[in-house]
Amino acid sequence: MLIRSVALNDYRNYSRRYFEFDPHLNIIIGKNGVGKTNILESILVVSNTKSYRTSDDQNLIRKDCDFARINLVSDEGTFKVVINKKNKSLYINNELIKKTSEFIGRINAVLFKPSDLELFTQSPGERRKLLDIEISKVSKRYIQALLKYNYLLKDKNKLLKELEPDRILLNVINESMEPLIAAIIEEREKFFQTINKYISEKYSQISGKNTEIRIIYEKCCEIEEIKNELERTKEKDDYYHYAVFGPHHDDYRFLMDGYDLNSIASQGQKRMTLIAFKFALIRYIEENINKTPIVLLDDILSELDKENQERLLRIIPENAQVIITNTDIHNLLIDKEYRLIELKEEENV
Ligand SMILES: Nc1ncnc2c1ncn2[C@@H]1O[C@H](COP(=O)(O)OP(=O)(O)O)[C@@H](O)[C@H]1O
Ligand SMILES: [Mg+2]
Repeated sequence: MLIRSVALNDYRNYSRRYFEFDPHLNIIIGKNGVGKTNILESILVVSNTKSYRTSDDQNLIRKDCDFARINLVSDEGTFKVVINKKNKSLYINNELIKKTSEFIGRINAVLFKPSDLELFTQSPGERRKLLDIEISKVSKRYIQALLKYNYLLKDKNKLLKELEPDRILLNVINESMEPLIAAIIEEREKFFQTINKYISEKYSQISGKNTEIRIIYEKCCEIEEIKNELERTKEKDDYYHYAVFGPHHDDYRFLMDGYDLNSIASQGQKRMTLIAFKFALIRYIEENINKTPIVLLDDILSELDKENQERLLRIIPENAQVIITNTDIHNLLIDKEYRLIELKEEENV
């Protein structure tokens, strides 16, 4: 998978800019605040259909402008995202795409960023977001089940707020939820199985140490128990006035040599765990769609010492298109050919 160009119109700090990319390695250099991350973010908006930096699409529109447009040309076709004051439109090869599930993941990019570390301290809801986005990008079954489930969950919670909830309707909702919950759990299990298959090996490759990293999926229940659990938690639902059981409470945590990683690992080890996790994610994507995702490294290399930097660059898949951002070219240890994109503030207006 590779991006040939990205054109930005009134997107973030860019009024009108066009960037061409090398099929292999690209390095974006510029001072802080010049718009390096904004470029990577725009690629992820195409990949995920939304930004990871803001939940409000309006923030993507350049100040005092009416709409923002991203036009990304790739070997998979031309992808366009137009965000205006009211909504967002998605196009593939100039054809309007109504369903998010038809657009998400068609461009698949994996971003490494310093704030990945927040995963350890975030709320379970934030951790689930990452899970949902990444699985949705490779599994139609997952995104469809998740969208339907969330829709039903909203209805269920609304009913439970009522003084005398309609029992028959609640039962109908529960029954419709059963296969959806099963699909969500199953796809999440597959995700963690694949991640666990690779994460320790990736950790060793980056750190040079033999350490076992494992992710524990804390699921709401076993698939065979869904029906029972929905039945068993009915009274609690009534008491709390919301659905207490379901995959909307799932979480996951990391183990390092069998111990809770968050409690024992140093900052450096946590950073390397997240990098290993992202490399395992690349394998997960490759196994599912038979294509290598685009690898985006945002300000990540300067955080690592020379040895780790070299190791990280070495384990990026040979055939991956890579885009790296950094403030300075001199502290990067790049021994391959690359396209340099130098950003200067005055060029953006
Ligand atoms: N909606 C917007 N309109 C105009 N400028 C914006 C908007 N959103 C962000 N910016 C600007 O983008 C810049 C940050 O860009 P960023 O890509 O994070 O920089 P960096 O090169 O440090 O990665 C800031 O100067 C910020 O003011
Ligand atoms: Mg940045």
